[in-house]
Amino acid sequence: MIKKYFYIANWKMNWNFTETVEFVARHYDQLIALGQKPDRSIVLCPSTTALYPLIKMFEKTHIAIGAQDCSDHQKGAFTGQISAEDIKSVGGTFCIVGHSERRRYNNESDEVISKKLSWLLDVGIVPIICIGETFEQYQQGTTLPVVKQQLNSIIPNMQRYAGQNIRILVAYEPVWAIGSGLIPSIQHLQTVFTFLKQVMTTLENASAWSLLYGGSISSKNIHIFKQIELIDGFLIGGASLDFQELQNIIK
Ligand code: PGA
Repeated sequence: MIKKYFYIANWKMNWNFTETVEFVARHYDQLIALGQKPDRSIVLCPSTTALYPLIKMFEKTHIAIGAQDCSDHQKGAFTGQISAEDIKSVGGTFCIVGHSERRRYNNESDEVISKKLSWLLDVGIVPIICIGETFEQYQQGTTLPVVKQQLNSIIPNMQRYAGQNIRILVAYEPVWAIGSGLIPSIQHLQTVFTFLKQVMTTLENASAWSLLYGGSISSKNIHIFKQIELIDGFLIGGASLDFQELQNIIK
C-alpha cells in the first residue's frame, strides 16, 4: 500500500487577503493537479479573511482548507475570537492549534490548547496540534519530557472520543527549527518519533493519531524526513509561500 502523506501549508500572517487569492489564482490548476494524486492530502491554511473564499475556490477538489487557530470557548462574548463551530460553518476541515508562535506571543497554555482541541473534535474538524521543545530545552536534553508534558495535557481529554471516527494530527515542531533553517538530526527525529508513537499506541484510539514534522522543511531536506517511517506528514511554513518550492516538496 502506498503511504499517504499530509502536506499542511501554514501561511501564517504573511499574506493579506488579496495576496492570498492572487497566489492561489496564479497556481490554481497546478494546485488542483497536485492534490489529485492518491499519495497525499494537501491542506492550505490561509489567514482568517481568506478562509471562506478559498474554501469556495477549492470546493469539490482534493485540496482542503484549514484555519490557523480557533477560540478555546464555544461561543459568546469573546471579542475577536473565532469559534471551531464558525470555522466548520464555512466549510473548514482542519485547524492548527498550539503553534509555538501562539504559545509564545499569545501566552497559550497547554490547558487552553486542550480546550481548543475538544471544540474542534466536537464539531468534526481535524486538529493539527503542535508540540516541541525550545532550543534551551533541546540543549538540556529534555525534549522527551517536554513533549510528554504537552501531550499529557491533551490526552486525558481525548479519551472521550474513543470509538469515534476522528483524526488528530500531532506535529512535532522543535521551536528552534521553525523559520531558522536548522533541522534536527536523523537520530533526534528517530528518538522523538519512536517515543511519540509509543505514547500513541497506549491509547484506546491509537489509530486516530497521525504524526507530522514541521520546522524549516524545504525541497532540499524533505528526503531526510521521509526516511523516518513514523512521520505521516509535514507542516510547512516559509517554503509553502513559494509555489515551486511547495511543488518540489510534495512531488
Ligand atoms: P517553517 O515553519 O517551515 O517556516 O520553519 C513551520 C511552522 O511554523 O509550522
